[in-house]
Amino acid sequence: MRSLDGNNPADIQIAAACLRNGGIGAFPTETVYGLGADALNERAVAKVFAAKERPLADPLIVHIVSRAQLAELAAEIPAAAEALIQRFWPGPLTLVVRATPRVPGIITAGLPTVAIRWPAHPLAQELIRRAGTPIAAPSANRFGRISPTTAGHVREQFSNEIDFVLDGGACQVGVESTILSLAHTPPAILRQGGVPQEQLEQAVGTLANQSHAASERPLAPGGFARHYAPRTKLELADPQQWSGDERTAGVLCFSQPPQRPYAAVEVLAPDGDLCTAAAGLYAAMHRLDALKLSRIVAEPLPEHGLGRAINDRLRRAAAAE
Ligand code: TXA
Ligand code: MG
Repeated sequence: MRSLDGNNPADIQIAAACLRNGGIGAFPTETVYGLGADALNERAVAKVFAAKERPLADPLIVHIVSRAQLAELAAEIPAAAEALIQRFWPGPLTLVVRATPRVPGIITAGLPTVAIRWPAHPLAQELIRRAGTPIAAPSANRFGRISPTTAGHVREQFSNEIDFVLDGGACQVGVESTILSLAHTPPAILRQGGVPQEQLEQAVGTLANQSHAASERPLAPGGFARHYAPRTKLELADPQQWSGDERTAGVLCFSQPPQRPYAAVEVLAPDGDLCTAAAGLYAAMHRLDALKLSRIVAEPLPEHGLGRAINDRLRRAAAAE
């Protein structure tokens, strides 16, 4: 794997050429790092599944930077989609719409729909523009493990299974995009994420919430019950009340550290801001996971705004294997 520098135009060009020629590589978005491939090249997309050890039943999000690319992939743009696009794109919102025949079956896992996102990160945009093709990109982690928010996280999980990692620093949002299906009536949230449900509902009215549904073959397969998981066992509990031995355990908490001698403590947001918590969530999980603790005790966050997406990730990380 080549380490490329997002501040260096020549390196961006190398990454874009690699993707155009059927290679795969990691790049930053505002949410998490993605593992990209030319979405219209089935062999390249297959390499992404292989590198991640991801089941082929779990479809990918396609990243675009133009209306022309949207028209190439989406068979129709419902009126609600238009309102959402105006307000939230580019940004951490993925829309599921009916797919055109152009979209390879490996992208959609055979579904009649495709998930599309226009990312806000300037480096992601530059890369996709230079590659000259829509880019399919799941998060750049092994299947089921913690998502990467730095190039270092990507290098910890991959070596030569991928061609490059383009370093653009830490991701600002820190949790994946919200996935909204417009193929459902009413539109349904399939995954809580970077755009809070409340903001979407302001724009298009009440939404169905299917993000808690978890099954063997979920609607949004990020719906796998166990996901985003550290190797260390993680429990959701109030760290102040937790009944285990705190001297061998670590804590992931919202804004206040517990008054107990835990082996390690990560306070996600000393300022009490859920955006700060989301931005630091995965990095804190990566750090705790590296300490070989007996347990990670994670405190549930307030269930509103980005707190919903964070709690969803914590619940899935805690789900039994
Ligand atoms: O923020 C993000 O969305 C990041 C960055 C890289 O853009 N990407 C990401 O991809 O989180 P991934 O593969 O980790 O999650 C994509 C989710 C999967 O759970 C998948 O099941 C769902 O999107 N998905 C993709 N296509 C779908 C479709 N046609 N219908 C329903 N869900 C779909
Ligand atoms: Mg993922």
